[in-house]
Amino acid sequence: MDAVALLNPERRMLRVMQGKSGHQWTLTEVLTACEWGDQAVAVGAGHGLSNAGLVSTTESSSALFRLADEGHKAKENGLLESRIWNWITQSDTPSMAALQSEFERHEAGPGVGLLKRLGVQLESGVFVSSNPSEVEAAIEARTAFIQSLPAAPESLDVSLVEHFQSRRGLIESVITITRSWSITPQGQAIKSEALVEKQSVSEITTEFLQSDAWKEADYRPFDVTLESATPRTGRSHPMQALIERVRSIFLEMGFSELVDDYVQTAGWNMDALFIPQDHPAREMQDTFYLENPKSIDLPEHLTDAWGAIHEHGGETGSVGWGGKFSAETSERGLLRTHTTVNTIQYLAANPKNACRVFSVDRVFRKEAIDRTHLPEFHQIEGIIMEEGANLQMLVATLKTFYAKMGYPEVRVRPAYFPYTEPSLEIEVKWRGKWLELGGAGIFRPEVTEPLGISSPVLAWGMGLERLAMLVLGLDDIRQLYISDLEWLRNQPIL
Ligand code: PHE
Repeated sequence: MDAVALLNPERRMLRVMQGKSGHQWTLTEVLTACEWGDQAVAVGAGHGLSNAGLVSTTESSSALFRLADEGHKAKENGLLESRIWNWITQSDTPSMAALQSEFERHEAGPGVGLLKRLGVQLESGVFVSSNPSEVEAAIEARTAFIQSLPAAPESLDVSLVEHFQSRRGLIESVITITRSWSITPQGQAIKSEALVEKQSVSEITTEFLQSDAWKEADYRPFDVTLESATPRTGRSHPMQALIERVRSIFLEMGFSELVDDYVQTAGWNMDALFIPQDHPAREMQDTFYLENPKSIDLPEHLTDAWGAIHEHGGETGSVGWGGKFSAETSERGLLRTHTTVNTIQYLAANPKNACRVFSVDRVFRKEAIDRTHLPEFHQIEGIIMEEGANLQMLVATLKTFYAKMGYPEVRVRPAYFPYTEPSLEIEVKWRGKWLELGGAGIFRPEVTEPLGISSPVLAWGMGLERLAMLVLGLDDIRQLYISDLEWLRNQPIL
């Protein structure tokens, strides 16, 4: 037996027991000899030593009757039948009405029942007994019984035990276990040096590990199977955590992040992207136009360039949309409806340098709120501009992104956006179904040429909340923003 595995209390108990081989130790003796106040320590140490074969334990169990809650009260104040009987004998007219005013209702009823069974009766409206000494003797026996508890069943009168067991809350029976221990030859053989108590370590520090003390130390064991409360600490909102994750994936893929304002012009939000000025999405139902600023100045060379493109295609060889372009419409202030408004401005400012840029940011659309729509939501936007960039590269980039998010099955389908050609929709397989998560494409010459961009630009914009619904398994998008604390606490850490 490896004595090093013994815990301190076991060492102490064995050391004490080695002093008296052959002795049968009671709990009280162990407590005194070990100088312990807590019985549980002795029982635990005895258990450990017994398991290790160093002591043998003798256990005997015995039943015991003791007072329950009502019993303790009865011992203090007298049994109910005794109190009522005393009152009857001392009262001039012990009537039912008098009894009911003297005793509370929950006592009067049961009390009368008890006394009736002892032969007390109502005669001409008052309580009387034909044999008062018999009543007194019974009450005395019951009182003595209550006073004698706790006691072993053998020492008690069976009929009284039965009587009190039939009454609620007066007595209860418990099983007590009495243990005693004696040392075994193996226990006697353990060297006393091995029984020196060591400082028990429950917290491991750097200093402790750097010293040599860890080699000799006694470690307090932890029971890892015990239930424990989950600590409630602050944590990121699942949306914030998801944004961080998206961000780190794009950063890892060599992109830089772009952050820009919500308030933009219709010119950058739409005209620059070759969205025709009479496009239905420009009407009030989709876009939040602003009262203040109602309009934001744009340089004339821009509105002129967009005008030429929209009216007749400018220098691009396109025929444009026709009609009359309005610079005033271009200058209207709005809350951006997509983050493409920011990537296009980034390209306008850096038309010649190859780049990879992304943003995860908020956009606004005049939508009715329902299970899958919110008027404020986030887009994951990105562009790659470089010589030779092509559709294959766009699809591969999106597939890589979703694979890193944990969705390896991605497909694209042809789609339409006024600013890209070809255009596509991205779909991700989730629980066996294809879900549309966003749009992508290669910017048209009508978009790139007026800004002096010469290399192909791959672009995409995807819904973040849609992705959150997949990641968190939601069927209602509103759950993300109602601040349901219970739900928030239970969300997995992404
Ligand atoms: N801006 C589009 C949207 O809001 C997505 C998109 C971005 C499509 C870039 C193609 C290229 O849905």
